[in-house]
Amino acid sequence: MRHLLEIDDLTAEEIDRILSIATSVEAPRVLAGKGAALIFEKPSARTRNSMEMAVVQLGGHPVYIQGHEVGFDTRETVEDVTKTMACFHSVVAARVFAHSVVERMAALDLVPIVNMLSDDAHPLQALADLLTMRREFGELTGRTVAYVGDANNVARSLALGAGLSGMNFRIASPGGYGFSERDADRIVTAGVSIEVVDRPEEAVAGADVVYADTWTSMGQEAEAERRRRAFEGFQIDERLMGFASAGAIFLHCLPAHRNEEVTDAVLDGPQSRIWVQAANRMHAARGAMAWLLQEKD
Ligand code: CP
Ligand code: NVA
Repeated sequence: MRHLLEIDDLTAEEIDRILSIATSVEAPRVLAGKGAALIFEKPSARTRNSMEMAVVQLGGHPVYIQGHEVGFDTRETVEDVTKTMACFHSVVAARVFAHSVVERMAALDLVPIVNMLSDDAHPLQALADLLTMRREFGELTGRTVAYVGDANNVARSLALGAGLSGMNFRIASPGGYGFSERDADRIVTAGVSIEVVDRPEEAVAGADVVYADTWTSMGQEAEAERRRRAFEGFQIDERLMGFASAGAIFLHCLPAHRNEEVTDAVLDGPQSRIWVQAANRMHAARGAMAWLLQEKD
């Protein structure tokens, strides 16, 4: 049985296969008559809706569950919640704070587990990002993605996904907001090498893709003011986009904090592909679930 907790759970060939399923005209009805439990400990617009619709397109029935309803380790243990869900569902997906929660779910090996974002990783986002870049550029090998901002869950999955797909990944973060040693080790272990630079201009220079995410992730709200100060000078604006290659595109996983990490002019400008990227969340989710269910046995 296979699970998707982080994008490096997949080989480069498997990522490629998922993206092919994501773009195939006919969705395989692998969930016909079956259920998918979607458990959210944090809010969501894109992930919830893209996953629900992807489940429907695969012939299944999604059940949306708020974290407090199942109460991981409060109402009952993570293991007991997972065993319960496996009585009814063929896939269980969760958006959690601690990554260890999805690891504990997967360790039971009862049904495929999908990480819909944890504090460490956002693999479904990275798959949609790769799909967006592939549709824009075709072959990704040798292309460069520049991530400017917090080395967070989205950045880690993107670094891994881009590296596994043969892309160069550059990141510029303020001091203290770069990848942790643990994340850096994970990236190296996956066989991916990244370029860490100090200044946003260095990251963006000649890049094909410029990527931003929030400076304050879900769960870090108490640090918002401190982070806003720390990230001064890391905003993506038209001046910074000017350092990228002529055909460069701008991506953001969303939700965006307009005129914080990125200006309106870039978000809504001609290089922005944020809405194609958001739409690709559904196709990537469909590809990932179809692949997991086909590979299940
Ligand atoms: N990008 C993303 O995961 O968006 P949501 O938090 O709205 O699901
Ligand atoms: N890094 C952000 C991504 C939101 C989709 C967060 O974890 O809140």
